[in-house]
Amino acid sequence: MNYKIAVIAGDGIGPEVTRETVEVLKTIGTKYGHNFTFSHVLAGGCAIDATGQPLPEETLKTCLESDAVLLGAVGGPKWDTLPGKERPEMALFGLRSGLGLFANLRPAILYSALKEACPLKEELIKDGLDVLVVRELTGGIYFGERGRGHDDRLGETAYDMEVYSMMEVERITKVAFEMAKKRKGKVTSVDKANVLESSRLWRETVNRMAEGDHSVQVDHMYVDNASMQLVRDPNQFDVIVTSNLFGDILSDEASMITGSIGMLPSASIGSEKRGLFEPVHGSAPDIAGKDIANPIATIMSAAMMLRTSLDLMEEADAIESAVSKVLDAGYRTADIMSPGMQKLGTKAMGEAVRKAIG
Ligand code: IPM
Ligand code: MN
Repeated sequence: MNYKIAVIAGDGIGPEVTRETVEVLKTIGTKYGHNFTFSHVLAGGCAIDATGQPLPEETLKTCLESDAVLLGAVGGPKWDTLPGKERPEMALFGLRSGLGLFANLRPAILYSALKEACPLKEELIKDGLDVLVVRELTGGIYFGERGRGHDDRLGETAYDMEVYSMMEVERITKVAFEMAKKRKGKVTSVDKANVLESSRLWRETVNRMAEGDHSVQVDHMYVDNASMQLVRDPNQFDVIVTSNLFGDILSDEASMITGSIGMLPSASIGSEKRGLFEPVHGSAPDIAGKDIANPIATIMSAAMMLRTSLDLMEEADAIESAVSKVLDAGYRTADIMSPGMQKLGTKAMGEAVRKAIG
C-alpha cells in the first residue's frame, strides 16, 4: 500500500529525532512491503525564518492531503521575544485546529528496563505504570478570547478566557471512554468544579455520558488533588480525561514519573483517521545538533501513527517490540543512562532500533 506522510521536523532536536524515525519507517516499509511517501514541510521557528510565518499555508495544505503527520518539535530561544501571535507555538495551534485534532493522547508507560529511572519509591511502581492522559486540544483557555485592558484602580490588566461547549466535552469524553474500554475500563475526569463554571459544565456532561454507558467506571477529581495523587499512587489511574490547560500540565507530570520525557510519544486525533504524532518532549535547544537527543519518543509516536491513522497493527507492534529489545539489550541515550549500560547517540539509537526490526 501507498501512504502519504507529512513530516514537520521543526526546530531544536526536532530534525534529528524525525530523521531517525523516518528511517525506521522506511525499514518497516521494506520489511512489510509498504510505500511511505514523505513530504517534508516547514512549521515553527524554521518556518518563521524561511517564510515569515510559523505555519505557512502550504504546510497545512500538505498535511490535509496526507494520511498522517509526523512532527518533531517547534520553538526555541531565538523566537522567544516575538509577540504572541507570531511565535513558533502558533504553528501547533494552527495545525491542531486546522486538522480538527481535538483529542491528545499521552500514554505514560514505564518500561521494565528503565525502572531505576522512575523517581518514585519502588513499592509504588512494582506492577509497572500505565496511565493514559486524554487532553482536550482545541478548546478552553488556549483558544478562548484573550487581551489586555486597563482598569482605573488596578492599572494594566490581561485576561484569557476558559470556554467549553457541551459538544466539546462530549466528544473528548467519548474518546476517553473508547480508550478505557480497550484498557482497564476506568476514566478519571479532572476539573476544578469547586471553583470554575466551565468545570461544572464539564463534570455534568461527563456524568450524563457515564449514565448512558455503564461499561466504563467514571470518577471525578479536582486538578490540585489529581496532581498530588499522580505522584502518591499513579496506578489508581487508568485513563485521565481533562481540559486543554490541565492536560498540558498533568501530562508533563505523568511523563516525568516514568523517568524520562525522552521516551514518551503522543497522538493528536479528531473525527477523521488522519492524526498528528509527536514526542511529548519539546525542542530542547540546549542539546540540539549534538547527536545526544533520545529519538525513542518520536519513533514510538510513529508506532502510534501506524496503529491509529494507517491501521498497520503488526507494523506498529514491530516498532514497539524493537524498542523494548534495544532497551533490554542495555542500550541507552544520555537521558536514560544508568551504570553498566551502553550509551548511544541519536543516530546510533535509531540504527539499533532499525536492526532490531530486522
Ligand atoms: C505541548 C506544549 C504546547 C502546549 C506548547 C509548546 C504551546 O507544551 O504540546 O504540550 O502547551 O500545548
Ligand atoms: Mn506541554
